[in-house]
Formats: sequence, structure tokens, C-alpha cells
Amino acid sequence: MSNYQIQSLEEYFQVYRKSVLDPESFWEEIAEENFTWHKRWDAVLSYDLNTPQIKWFEGAKLNITENCIDRHLYSRGDKTAIIFEPNDPSESAEHITYNDLKDRVCRFANVLKEQGIEKGDRVCIYLPMIPELAVSVLACARIGAIHSVVFAGFSAAALATRINDCDCKMVLTSDGSFRGTKTIDLKGIVDEALESCPDIKKVLVAKRINSKIEMKEGRDLWLQPLLDAAYRDCVPEIMDAEDPLFILYTSGSTGKPKGMVHSTAGYMVYTAYTFKNVFQYREDDVYWCTADIGWITGHSYILYGPLANGATTVMFEGVPNYPDWGRFWEVVEKHKVNQFYTAPTAIRALAKEDLSFVNKHDLSSLKILGTVGEPINEEAWHWYNDNIGNKKNPIVDTWWQTETGGIMISPIPFSTPTIPTFATLPLPGIQPTLMDEHGNELKGNQVDGHLCIKFPWPSMARTIWGNHKRYKETYFSTYKNKYFTGDGALRDSTGYYRITGRVDDVIIVSGHNLGTAPIEDAINEHTAVAESAIVGFPHEIKGNALYGYVILKETGESRDHTNLRKEINQIITEHIGPIAKLDKVQFVIGLPKTRSGKIMRRILRKIACKDTSNLGDISTLLNPEVVADIMKNVV
Ligand code: PRX
Repeated sequence: MSNYQIQSLEEYFQVYRKSVLDPESFWEEIAEENFTWHKRWDAVLSYDLNTPQIKWFEGAKLNITENCIDRHLYSRGDKTAIIFEPNDPSESAEHITYNDLKDRVCRFANVLKEQGIEKGDRVCIYLPMIPELAVSVLACARIGAIHSVVFAGFSAAALATRINDCDCKMVLTSDGSFRGTKTIDLKGIVDEALESCPDIKKVLVAKRINSKIEMKEGRDLWLQPLLDAAYRDCVPEIMDAEDPLFILYTSGSTGKPKGMVHSTAGYMVYTAYTFKNVFQYREDDVYWCTADIGWITGHSYILYGPLANGATTVMFEGVPNYPDWGRFWEVVEKHKVNQFYTAPTAIRALAKEDLSFVNKHDLSSLKILGTVGEPINEEAWHWYNDNIGNKKNPIVDTWWQTETGGIMISPIPFSTPTIPTFATLPLPGIQPTLMDEHGNELKGNQVDGHLCIKFPWPSMARTIWGNHKRYKETYFSTYKNKYFTGDGALRDSTGYYRITGRVDDVIIVSGHNLGTAPIEDAINEHTAVAESAIVGFPHEIKGNALYGYVILKETGESRDHTNLRKEINQIITEHIGPIAKLDKVQFVIGLPKTRSGKIMRRILRKIACKDTSNLGDISTLLNPEVVADIMKNVV
């Protein structure tokens, strides 16, 4: 179909116009011509953004793994679907063809069934970036089980919260994981988590690091013998378009993570369509996204989007600096990667290293570069453009969220002229708008405000698991009949969007979304702590780092602050994971509050950023003496 892959700016504008004027026939055509359905939909879209209820392709029947695997077998059975590149370059890469993938997914699906998993059951996947992770995600989808992948860097407590929140029946994990020179005892973390998860009856364990681990009798089973014994075909479960495909947790403004629920048909259509366009994927290309499958980027653009297009997708187990800082470029050269998609934080870290790590590798296969997860600063953009893209490969700065399921604002490479730090224009079907603080839509260009989306798109999350009220409150209540993203953005004179950052209590650190509330809750667990507040401050590599203001129950010189800082970070590591550790901790006598008792984070942010020349409107500040004291002792 002609408009499945946009080829010029003119075509983009035509397609975009059509997608806005008649969204239903636009998406219907795409769904009709590019996917396999068991039954056609009764309606393309029905929605009410007030309730909110959103349904795409209602009445249609399908299985997403048939679209991602089976339908490719005739023409692409021997084509590589997944290239697994291990942590250690001395271990060979594994090329998994579409035929192999079918076999492995079916066996895994049969194992899940034999172990009692049924359609609609939740399965928690806590695995490193090894083929079993990709295969198990697809195996769940094969039998209609809902996968809930938890990033294997989260702590036992964070894992337990996520297992219990959606009432998982089973956990899939491994004996451990490799991370550069280190190994991590994943099974030990699972064991600890399961002490507070009484409903987990089965744990299937993949072998990766060959460590000696405890296997709990009656609960834990090694995966490989079960896979070896399983039948290699599994008839796909026929799902309704709106059946949940997966749950993925993201942090929010309360201590409890939000289990975003994504549905089947809309998610498939949108991720496939956006993958094809944003990466301009061609049949023989090798595509590599460096994210972890534990995040939405990995779900949508390592697995579902690429596989739905019959692509070859690289899955990388390692880290950018092992064995040295040339590892990414070595992998690009080795697998002749054509599209490379990574996070600004990785680019900043790589840019600090010697250029010889880049220059000793042949990067001539690269055609398109991408970034995601946080705003990219100009310096990092230029480094990426000059040294990796050789000033000729377009950079797609893709803006989207766990909640949106797929890329929302992004250039179409070779069509949309790019400007550093601008995500540029909305993809077809996406209707962004900017709102002012009074709830008015900002018309025209050269405006900045809160970024909202005013019309449904197929891959939007449908609810928060077990809490539809919170879904409505978080996303659809700030502005009536609009999805509120939580981000600020500006629209320049040509209509291009630039995302300026979060406007709520979420801080993006190294591309990870961290809510301040869960971190504060963790710190407050320390017996010496009375109250705390977290803000972000700019960091050269991480983008933002965390600054904690902590009030102790007892003050005085007797407390060893260095040890307390360590203990606070230890507690955060235990409750959430090392990604949420604080870079700076300041012990304070109080926190700036309004008369109604709300912490004035704006002031704390300014102090942490050492930008105190103008604290803004402080007319509602109850305790100015506290602010003076905090400023005096800033770290
Ligand atoms: O603030 C935006 C930022 O990341 C947030 C979403 O985080 P998460 O749900 O973890 O998903 C990340 C991967 C899609 C957004 O609300 N963000 C994401 N992409 C960009 C970005 N900020 C600026 N530019 C981007 N390209």
C-alpha cells in the first residue's frame, strides 16, 4: 500500500491530513492491507475520552504472534528474525530465523500451558536480555496470557509490588545475568521477592550464568528440560482486538507504580506502522535498538514492531563500555546495522570517551540514527550526527511514552528536515496540542505549554490495571477530553515540536522515568528520617540526577552524615533499585511549604540547580527561614 511507508515530505503532509480528516478510514486501510485477521472488525473506533473508554478494531479476532511470526514463514522462514549479541564478544552471536522463532515460541507456549497458564493469566517475566526473554514474551501472546515484564534491574521489593499488583500466577527468570564484568543473582532477587508473593506457585528458571542457585522444591523448575520435551507446534489462541496483550509498569506521582494495560490489535497496527515509517525499514536491513525489553521501547521496537514487519532485530545483552567503550560500534560493524536507536544518556556517556573507540570501526552500514527517552541536548546531538552519522544519516528524535505504546512525534527520515533537539512533527493519526495553565488550547505557532493529545490513537494504553479511576485522573482529568502527557513542549514558528521535559513529579534520570513519591517513601522508611523531598538537577551524562532534601528526626553533630547518606541510598536500592539512587543528599531543618502544607518543589529545584537569583513567586511560602537555611548549606 502506498501510504504504509511515507517517502517524501509532501507525502507525509498528504497522509497526515487524511489521517486527521478521516482517522477511521485511514487506520482501516492500514489494518486491512498489512495484517492477518481471523475476523474483521465491526467498528474501527469507538471512544469517549471522558469515561475514558477507547476501543480500536472492536469485534476483530487475531493473534499477534501469527502476525509477527507465522505469516512470514512462507517468504521469510530462513530470514534472521533476531540476532542475539551476548554480553561477552568472545561468545558467538546467535541468529534466530523466523522458522526457529516459531519453533521456540511454540515450545515455550506449550510449557506455559502445561504448567497451568491459561488465557488472561498474568505472567511476570524477570529475565535479562537473552533469547528466552523475547521468546517468553511471544509465548505468552501465543496463548493469550498477559505478560508483565519487569526490568531486571529492579529490586526484590519493586518486583514483589509488581507481581502482586496484577496478581501474577508465574514468574520466569534465570539463574543470573551478565552485565559487563559483573554477574547479578536474579534468582536470589526473585526468591526474596516471592517471600511476599503467596500466589506464585511456579517459577521457571533459564540457565544463563551457570551459578549455583537454590531451587525451591515444588515451585522452581529448570526451563530447558521442559522446552526440550515440549511439542514444537502450538495453535495460536484467537484473541479479541481489545483483549489485553501486556501490562507494563511506569512510575507516577504516588508510591504505587501504574500498570499500564495495552491491548492487542491497536497496539500491533500502530507499532508496526510507526516502525516501518520512523526507521524506513527495508527488507534486508538490520535494525538495532539498544533498549532493554523491560521498558516500552524494547516491547514496541525490539519485538512487536520489527517482527510484525518481518525485520531482523538485534537484541544486545551487554553494556556500552564492556570490554571497552567501542562495544556499540563493534556490534554495528559486526552485524552491519542499518538503523541504530539509543538513548541520549548513552550518547552523552559515549561522547566523553576518546574518538578512537568510534573511528576504529566501520560504521558505513548505518543509514538512520534514533534517540528516545529524554530530551537530547544540542552537544550530544552534534556528536552523534558528526561522529556516528557522518553528517549524512538523519537522526530521528522520537518522542513517546510507556502510555502511548508507540512513537508519537518524530521526523520521517529523508523526508522531514531535522533540527537538533526537536522531535519535529506528529506521526499520522497523532493530534498533539499545547494547553496553557487555564485550560485553554494554545493556537498558532511559537507557543509553549502542556502537551496533550486530542484524539485517540490505536496504541494508547486502555487503563491502569485494577485502577481505572487513577487512569482517568492521571491522564484525562487535567484537560477535558484530552490525554495529558505530563510533558511540557513548545511549537516553533514552523509547527515543529520540541519537548522541554516533565511538568509533573516525574524525573527522567538516564532515560528512566522516576516518580519522586516512591523514592521519598523509601527514604522515609529510614528510622532516622522524618521527611524528605526529591528534585532533579542537571547532570552531564544522566541528563538529570536526583537531589534529596532530608529532615532528620533528631538533628545534631552526633549523626554521621556520610553513613546516613550511604544508608539512604541503600534503602532506595532495596526498595526500587540502583537506578533511583541520589547523587546528592542535603540534611535540612525543614522543607519550604505553602500555607496549605504542600512542598514547594519549584524552590527546591532552583536551589539544587544553583539558580537562586530569582525564586519566583514566594507569596504563599510559609517558612522563608527554612529556605535561607537550605540555600546556605546547599551541597
Ligand atoms: O518526558 C518524556 C520523555 O520520557 C517520558 C516517557 O518515559 P517512558 O514512559 O519511560 O518512555 C520512554 C520511552 C518511550 C516522556 O513523557 N521522553 C521520551 N522521549 C523523549 C522524551 N523527552 C524528550 N524527547 C524525547 N524524544
